[in-house]
Amino acid sequence: MLMTDLIVKKRDGGELSHEEINFMIDGYTQGQIPDYQMSAMCMAILLRGMTDRETLDMTMAMVHSGETLDLSPIQGVKGDKHSTGGVGDKTSLVLCPMVAACGLKVAKMSGRGLGHTGGTIDKLESFPGFTTGISEETFFKNVNKIGIAIAGQTADLVPADKKLYALRDVTGTVPSIPLIVSSIMSKKLASGADVIVLDVKCGSGAFMKTEQDARTLAQGLTRIGRLAGRKCAAVITDMDQPLGWAVGNALEVKEAISVLKGEKGGDLLELCLTLGSCMLTEAGLAGSIEEARAKLEKTISDGTALEKLSQMVTAQQGDGRDVYDTSRLPLAPVQMEVPALEGGYVRRIEAEQVGLVSMHLGGGRATKDSEIDLSVGLVLHKKVGDSVEAGESLATIHASSQEKAAEAAELLRACYSLSPDPVQRSPFIKDIIR
Ligand code: URA
Repeated sequence: MLMTDLIVKKRDGGELSHEEINFMIDGYTQGQIPDYQMSAMCMAILLRGMTDRETLDMTMAMVHSGETLDLSPIQGVKGDKHSTGGVGDKTSLVLCPMVAACGLKVAKMSGRGLGHTGGTIDKLESFPGFTTGISEETFFKNVNKIGIAIAGQTADLVPADKKLYALRDVTGTVPSIPLIVSSIMSKKLASGADVIVLDVKCGSGAFMKTEQDARTLAQGLTRIGRLAGRKCAAVITDMDQPLGWAVGNALEVKEAISVLKGEKGGDLLELCLTLGSCMLTEAGLAGSIEEARAKLEKTISDGTALEKLSQMVTAQQGDGRDVYDTSRLPLAPVQMEVPALEGGYVRRIEAEQVGLVSMHLGGGRATKDSEIDLSVGLVLHKKVGDSVEAGESLATIHASSQEKAAEAAELLRACYSLSPDPVQRSPFIKDIIR
């Protein structure tokens, strides 16, 4: 088989066979197919598309390019969630303890990630002593005992995606739905959960800018998940402004805790209730969305979700009491308010730009080796639709110095657009694909 023939076949709109896709993915992962040929293939796929059969074959070939996680030592139904990523996205910190408190087993491998804040495991390291570097044995033992563990990825899952994604990034071939689907779903399938729920975000702060693109992606992801034998659902959500209030690692942990305590609601809680309801119904742990939602709400009112988080922190070498009293979590030395220069109604908050403010403060990583400051970031006080008076605070900046705080305050103010007239926010949950 020759890679050139496969490129020509796809370029001319043909359908690649199972064997051809395996040849291509194996050959590329092992370095036998060079980047220039794989780049041409990615571009041909971007322009010509792939059938579901091809996408499934590509996904499975990628799954088998490395190790896979066998979660069979864990009793019960295992659930996982994936988000296409957004600013202020601390969903896992709230959702995982909630569904675990309802009996779903959460065995989550998470990444550190690049961007405006760290990934879930960086955020969790805001708890003094907390470690995500636990052995596979401890990981399984914890999930069996308390129902939840979140660990840093140790196994070499989907090496094909690491190479392919880096290549797509520099060849203009990231925005191909079949390539995105195979990239995301190969990682989720290799992580072993029975139930996979996907949070597909759309809007200015998201990877998918339009609702239509987000819907096409969500449908592709759930179709391939089901064809691979997993229970799958997707929720399409608005990312036209940051999710929740806080952006920054320890600040997001504190926000997650206040949602779990029932002190805060808003879009973050709504998202967790929606994703959680899909997870519980797909897992057979609730008979209907309404029943699932009621169970999830109860985990907040009776404190069981917060207690789950506390148990996880203790089981991973932190002190579970830090969930109830957050005074030991990192706190930046400088806090500065960002007063509005004029009054009105918040029309827009540029999510991506807000993310850059957090980066500027040192809360995110520009390269995989950069250090992040867990204490810095910002907390919004006004969201789209809110009324603001001149001089009222739009947000609080948490910074390592006065100088950094002042720079960030200017940048953050520029993220806000106000309108003299009342603003209606568009629905946050756009659709649920089940
Ligand atoms: N996220 C992924 O993991 N893969 C893609 O291709 C795009 C977004």
